[in-house]
Amino acid sequence: MKGIILHGGRGTRLRPLTHTGPKQLIPVANKPISQYALEDLRDAGIRDIAVVLGHIAPNKVIEYYGDGSDFGVSITYIEQGTPMGIAHAVGLCEDFVGEEPFVVYLGDNILKGGIRHFADDFVRFGYDAMVLLCEVKNPRMFGVARFEDGKLVGLVEKPKVPPSNFALVGIYFLTHTVFEAIKTLKPSWRGELEITEAIQRLMDWGHNVGYSKVIGWWKDTGRPEDVLEANQLVLSELRLSVEGEVEDGVTVSGNVGIGKGTIVRRGCTIRGPVIIGKGCDIGPNTYIGPYTSIGDNVTMRGGEIENTIVVGDSVIECDRRIVDSLIGRNSRIISADKNVPRGYKLIIGESTLVSL
Ligand code: TTP
Repeated sequence: MKGIILHGGRGTRLRPLTHTGPKQLIPVANKPISQYALEDLRDAGIRDIAVVLGHIAPNKVIEYYGDGSDFGVSITYIEQGTPMGIAHAVGLCEDFVGEEPFVVYLGDNILKGGIRHFADDFVRFGYDAMVLLCEVKNPRMFGVARFEDGKLVGLVEKPKVPPSNFALVGIYFLTHTVFEAIKTLKPSWRGELEITEAIQRLMDWGHNVGYSKVIGWWKDTGRPEDVLEANQLVLSELRLSVEGEVEDGVTVSGNVGIGKGTIVRRGCTIRGPVIIGKGCDIGPNTYIGPYTSIGDNVTMRGGEIENTIVVGDSVIECDRRIVDSLIGRNSRIISADKNVPRGYKLIIGESTLVSL
């Protein structure tokens, strides 16, 4: 079986972070979101992986993953450029896939527990295609499954009146028959070739389309709040360890990871789950609260931070409380006026200077 990771798209809902890099490289618990997809594919025994690149800084993706050997896989890069839809991106992989069955993994999706048993089922049952479904509270935001007598008969993209509460997870198990379906597609109202329509066509043509239900959590990280929620979910389950230096007079509680070369100075309180990368300088007298991920080479002096992702290479020097925020690489948040109200919500892109 082969794997495809989609790394394109516009990422408009994650601007300004996506002005300088694809959303799939935003870190969750200090690891790019698409690396979870890559590791799921690898752990299902899939080593031959195509990464479909979009138009937002594709060089950053190649720089990070290289030929895949550092991650135990072999990567072929395929350029999509302008996003013309998920089905369009898949269609570009026809030569790469050949006659093998394959898995398409949207690079901004995270699934608890990986895909190994789903991949096994797909092969065992000999489906032409298999989708994963997850019960959600807000099906109108997703592709939604329609059943008749317990049989999957249709997929509807973002329906006004959802036919079920089962959303289509962004992981599709496919065979080469899908390429015939993709070739018959016309752009949808949003100008994209829709993968839901391609799979619908397979059903209409009488192909054997199966489904499996996802029991644990699944997260599509399209919006800032989704990225923060994914960060919470992943941090809740990681086993973390302290490798850096923690001075006397620091309170560390819960599940906390501190990377090599990081120093946490006296008077700090760290309440897990928290992950702090390598080469950071934290404190003195700084509070880092639950569900915070701090990347490498971050200096934080004073203040409080909670439920936030700091991508890395940043300086935070202010006596304020930062919550529910995404802070892009190479940002500086520094004190200015003491009279500004407390508690800011920040969505900050790369190379930003915020003066609070
Ligand atoms: P979306 O989140 O639906 O698309 P987007 O990135 O354009 O989002 P936004 O609405 O914020 O602008 O895409 C789902 C996944 O598929 C995501 O990982 C990006 C990827 N994708 C491609 O690789 N190529 C494409 O042409 C499209 C539309 C999406």
